[in-house]
Amino acid sequence: MGRVVASAPGKCILFGEHAVVYGQPAVAVAIEQRMIVEISTEDEISEWKLDGKEFDGSKHPHVQALRDRMWPKSVGATPLSVKIHGDIPAASGLGSSAALSVAACAALRAARGRWIRKNGDFSVPEDWAEGYHSSIEDTNSYADSENIRDSARRSGQNGVGHLHIFGQDSIDVEECSIVGHSIEAVAQGGRASPMDATTCAYGGIILLSDKLEPGVDWTGTRNLSTPNGDVSWEIHSVSAKSPDDLFLVIGHTGDYSSTAQQVKYVAELLEKDPLRMKEIEAIGHVARRGVDALLKGDYTAVGHAMKENQVLLSLLGVSSEKLDRLVEAANPSSLGAKLTGAGGGGCMIALTRNPKETSEAIELAGGRTWISKFNNKGLTLDAISDLPIWFPPGN
Ligand code: PMV
Repeated sequence: MGRVVASAPGKCILFGEHAVVYGQPAVAVAIEQRMIVEISTEDEISEWKLDGKEFDGSKHPHVQALRDRMWPKSVGATPLSVKIHGDIPAASGLGSSAALSVAACAALRAARGRWIRKNGDFSVPEDWAEGYHSSIEDTNSYADSENIRDSARRSGQNGVGHLHIFGQDSIDVEECSIVGHSIEAVAQGGRASPMDATTCAYGGIILLSDKLEPGVDWTGTRNLSTPNGDVSWEIHSVSAKSPDDLFLVIGHTGDYSSTAQQVKYVAELLEKDPLRMKEIEAIGHVARRGVDALLKGDYTAVGHAMKENQVLLSLLGVSSEKLDRLVEAANPSSLGAKLTGAGGGGCMIALTRNPKETSEAIELAGGRTWISKFNNKGLTLDAISDLPIWFPPGN
């Protein structure tokens, strides 16, 4: 039986939510909690299965979009059984859907493999005969499956002059990050920042900005055609030394809020009073200071920047009574605490050297907690057998 298991972490935003919508930098970190995706072939199945039940694409738009893109029935791809589990709470701003998309993309790529040019080097995207990579000029990963340009297909010519590789060798983190982002965009009506997919794919600490930021490693550009026009982001990775005794405690308020509504609220606020753009710029300054502190390994200063960021988010009106209460409860035992994501509900995070004490304080104030190490690995391929499960014949 062909089988692949892949997993990817969730994320939380350390600095810069909301301000990132207006071009300011934002920093996200991968958390320890992960989504695990297992795909396998099962005898006698004639349609896709998800967690043992018949697959319904309308309930699972991310899986549907990935299936269309990576495993198209129209070119003979066989039905799969998919199992999804993990410990990232859903719809809480912790990137569970991006982690799912990134892990599933890796699993499908490992299972179908990749055509590359004969004598080519699979680590060089220009040698691929198919796939998505930001360094391949003619790849438009954002089109839906039916509209993918022919030039983006780059399929092998019945194997002539091409080599087929599969499993770990065929997986490319940049590809999973790009496809994950495009799947988020499809599922969210054309609007999605690459923050979640990039952090879930690469792991570690990711800095997103509308321009190249100094002092950090630039890893690539993401472009997206949205209903409001073309948007572009510069992605950077921040290589910070993080001590083993440093933790993030995530506290869930138990309230759910809509990111779209929170973003709309800020947009209306700025429209009414354009001078409040100063607060957005101040969040950008705090985020840049936070990155400097991360690069120096000065976690007291990182915590301080988180506290300042929370004050600014509160002023902006995107915190909530419950978020404030959990942040206040976490402050005495931590280096810094703030809401993470869109606010209004959802989660807060605390950076701490006393995870048990911080977690207990948050729980006492009414939050549900998860403890995570600070720096966590990105996408991993965890198990394979009997591959490839299927591969496209090529044109
Ligand atoms: O709640 P999340 O993790 O989806 O984060 C939203 C972050 C915002 O800055 C509020 C919106 C955005 O698109 O960046």
